[in-house]
Amino acid sequence: MSSQKPEIKRVTTHQLQAMKQRGEKISMLTAYDYSMARLLEGAGIDIILVGDSASNVMAGHETTLPITLDNMIYHASSVVRAVKRALVVIDIPFGYYQSDSSEALRSAIRIMKESGAHAVKMEGGNEIRDSVERILTAGVPVMGHLGLTPQSIYKFGTYVVRAREEREAKKLLDDARILEECGCFSIVLEKIPADLAGKVAKSISIPVIGIGAGGRVDGQVLVMQDMLGITKEFKPRFLRRYADLDQIVTEAVSHYIKDVKSGDFPNEKEQY
Ligand code: KIV
Repeated sequence: MSSQKPEIKRVTTHQLQAMKQRGEKISMLTAYDYSMARLLEGAGIDIILVGDSASNVMAGHETTLPITLDNMIYHASSVVRAVKRALVVIDIPFGYYQSDSSEALRSAIRIMKESGAHAVKMEGGNEIRDSVERILTAGVPVMGHLGLTPQSIYKFGTYVVRAREEREAKKLLDDARILEECGCFSIVLEKIPADLAGKVAKSISIPVIGIGAGGRVDGQVLVMQDMLGITKEFKPRFLRRYADLDQIVTEAVSHYIKDVKSGDFPNEKEQY
């Protein structure tokens, strides 16, 4: 009898495409460190996004703008070390692709080389077309991101639902087609009406992953800290909480403090 473990096969962009074709939903969550990525991988997640939301949930910034490429590479390489099956996608952060397509290519290459990730994500439509095409020439898969694009928060001024107006909805549909045409393997749609998201998912052949975009898309993504109940103050309508880690962790830490203060921890069995 062989003692060899069965080989774990990496999720590929082709498999994601096939999942869309057979109507199998794609699961995606964010992670930014080794320990949590290991848990997501163990649970069987399809895609791990090392989002620039790390700027908010890991570093405590108000927006995603301050995080650097070096920061993202650090988070990404920690995640990659934990993962054998999930596809790992990394956000190119604000300021590292907007100048021109050469800068975008340089950033994508640094991410791939220094973190070992499998794909990059960028926000925007027609305006990032050249960068997407340039990055693809180096063989790096690109995921798009339309709708609420947090890197442009100061242009929009608020985090309200996007593309409710006909003109913005039409531009979003056009942008989705452009991103498909120029070679993106998938698109994230954030906080837009469910009807529009469903229409986009139907009109393009690449998988559409929604966050606050309803159920008629090809998969869902959430920020892990939000769905686990760590970021309790963040309560958008689209968010479903699957755990209350705020309460669980606070209770455990309070219990530990009590045991340390009382001398109950460590006991005889917990020492050498
Ligand atoms: O940075 C991030 O976490 C994201 C998701 C919200 C899609 O881009």
